[in-house]
Amino acid sequence: MDTDALFTITRENLDTGLRGYPVGYCTTSAVDPNRGLFYIGRPIVDLAYKEPEEVIYLLYYGKEASSEELKAFKKELHGRSHISQGLIKHIQALPRSGHPMKLFASALLLAGMLESKNDYREDCLNLIARIPAIAAVVINHHAGFKPEVESKPELGYMENFVQMLNIPKKNEKDLVPVMKLFNILHYDHGGGNLSTFVGKSVASGLEDMYGSMASAILALSGPRHGRANQDCLEFVEEILQQVGENASIEQLEGLLRTKLAKNELVFGFGHAVLRVEDPRASIFYDLANKRFSSHPLVKIATLLRQAGPKVLGENPKISNPYPNVDAISGVVVHAAGFAFPEYIAVLFGMARVVGIARQIVYERLEARSGKGTPIVRPKYFYALDESLSG
Ligand code: MLT
Repeated sequence: MDTDALFTITRENLDTGLRGYPVGYCTTSAVDPNRGLFYIGRPIVDLAYKEPEEVIYLLYYGKEASSEELKAFKKELHGRSHISQGLIKHIQALPRSGHPMKLFASALLLAGMLESKNDYREDCLNLIARIPAIAAVVINHHAGFKPEVESKPELGYMENFVQMLNIPKKNEKDLVPVMKLFNILHYDHGGGNLSTFVGKSVASGLEDMYGSMASAILALSGPRHGRANQDCLEFVEEILQQVGENASIEQLEGLLRTKLAKNELVFGFGHAVLRVEDPRASIFYDLANKRFSSHPLVKIATLLRQAGPKVLGENPKISNPYPNVDAISGVVVHAAGFAFPEYIAVLFGMARVVGIARQIVYERLEARSGKGTPIVRPKYFYALDESLSG
């Protein structure tokens, strides 16, 4: 890409959340408005059904692993995956009130206090290896599930996470492949999504990996970012309650029009960058229709996939009326037996740790010929009120 003369900043660009501003380089992934997500130049659809460890290797080293390299990498992740009993006990002593993402961020701070090596590269791999165990302890504790967790990393990255989750009536046969897919699809999404940008910004002040990651997880916690998947799942559940699983497409279109007329939110459509259906969503829809087509939530989400773009597309101001990943990710996880909307954002955060940690390593240790990027310090114009600024 030609990176010379990229951007002219005008008054219209101010107070727009830095939307689309070029900031730097992302060496792991890119999001094309019309083609969606690529990891190291590979379209996400080509990676979706690989093993999580293979995709983590790709993002971490920037190349595909040979079978020997993959074997060694899996061994390395196993070796780094242990979390101490002390950390588990401290997490289990935290209050269970409030949203689980707050508990998750607190757990990362605790992990940093007890286990940080104060070395971005070491902590990157340690955190990637340990995050499934940390997330499982957080979910089990917050939900009041059986607290014991025995880590068995030799089972595999996501297999181990699923076996550590103490959810009632667990069906590992459905849950493992869905958790693997969910994990892979959420590792990274370019350099400018809020959680990644925040994590890198905090690290630019030389906060360590764990503290930077805790900040990133809080950035992911809001309903405009990572917690949108919970809102979307609850939205589909609410529609199912209203219209029933055998609703017609016309009924759904009518319902969406009524919601819009009442200025109510329609969740799961549009994206800051994408101008087509999010390919991550397309992958989830395919899986949902192959494996869970008779599930009531899948039926409604599938109808919404058609009705949403039609109804939202009637408004010329909406530049992207298409489903994003959140429109269907939580529904698939629910259909596979993880029926706990509150924890879907934790699953997102557990995955996104991979991309954020790797991007922090780039910015701290590799960018600018190893000097690293300077502290983030954008410019703001002083104005008592925007209208007074001329
Ligand atoms: C993400 O995966 O981070 C979301 O799609 C949001 C974004 O890319 O800005």
